[in-house]
Amino acid sequence: MPKKVSRRSFLKKLIQFALISVGSGTGIYYYARDIETKMLKITEQKIAHPLIPSGFNGCKIVQFSDTHLGFQYTIKQFERLIAKINSLSPDIILFTGDLMDEPNKYEERVQISPILSSLSAPLGKYCIYGNHDHGGYGSELYHSIMTQSGFQVLKNDSVTIELNDESSIQIIGIDDAMLGKPNFDTTMANVPSDTFKMLLSHAPDIADLALKYGIDWQLSGHSHGGQIKIPFAGALVTPPYAEKYNEGLYHLENQNHSLTLYVNRGIGTTRLPFRFLSQPELTVFQLTSEDKLS
Ligand SMILES: [Fe+2]
Repeated sequence: MPKKVSRRSFLKKLIQFALISVGSGTGIYYYARDIETKMLKITEQKIAHPLIPSGFNGCKIVQFSDTHLGFQYTIKQFERLIAKINSLSPDIILFTGDLMDEPNKYEERVQISPILSSLSAPLGKYCIYGNHDHGGYGSELYHSIMTQSGFQVLKNDSVTIELNDESSIQIIGIDDAMLGKPNFDTTMANVPSDTFKMLLSHAPDIADLALKYGIDWQLSGHSHGGQIKIPFAGALVTPPYAEKYNEGLYHLENQNHSLTLYVNRGIGTTRLPFRFLSQPELTVFQLTSEDKLS
């Protein structure tokens, strides 16, 4: 015979359920605001390609992205991040855009350059524009902060990284797809086709076009890995130009060429000061020369 549920025990169960729901909701709220935003996941990723000269074997590249200083991410946190990057002893440092959330409104702007200047990489520091670097009248501010800090800003431009043995790779930077003026024809005009070509593009979805221009590897940010992910459903919001590719590694190919894309989840937050199932990330890449005959 089914057990009769008394009114009192039913009410008790209902109150328990309500308390658990409110409690876990509050817990998730604080976790997403105060805990996950302060985490840092260091992802290690090998870049192996036949066009990488053997002299570059073991060359370490650190990519950081989307700090969005001034929204939720503080200058103190930024200082610790920069010390962390230096402790990884990178050969090359890459920043893939969105330094400040609103460049013209960020009052601690003057403190950025002395901190960024302390970053050290023997083969150079390179960066590109993100949409937030152009927004808020930021284009000039961003350019001056980055150049003062020893970064070369690649805006539809490329740079040859050359070793003493004269072997080289190319690092190519395309302007932001949302608020800049990306131009692959100008950018690729002086890039030799027989060298390893690594593209920096804030917007990951540019990869479909980059493949047609013979790019071998692309590093991007912009998506924040969704920033807030719902279990089994994925990212809550995917911004324009990060709708197709929003986190991690992708392989693209057409009849003539193949491209590998890595989308970094970034460091800070925008719009909502939360991260859930999308921890802040630094990526450490290691170049490997792949035998052409293997
Ligand atoms: Fe961003």
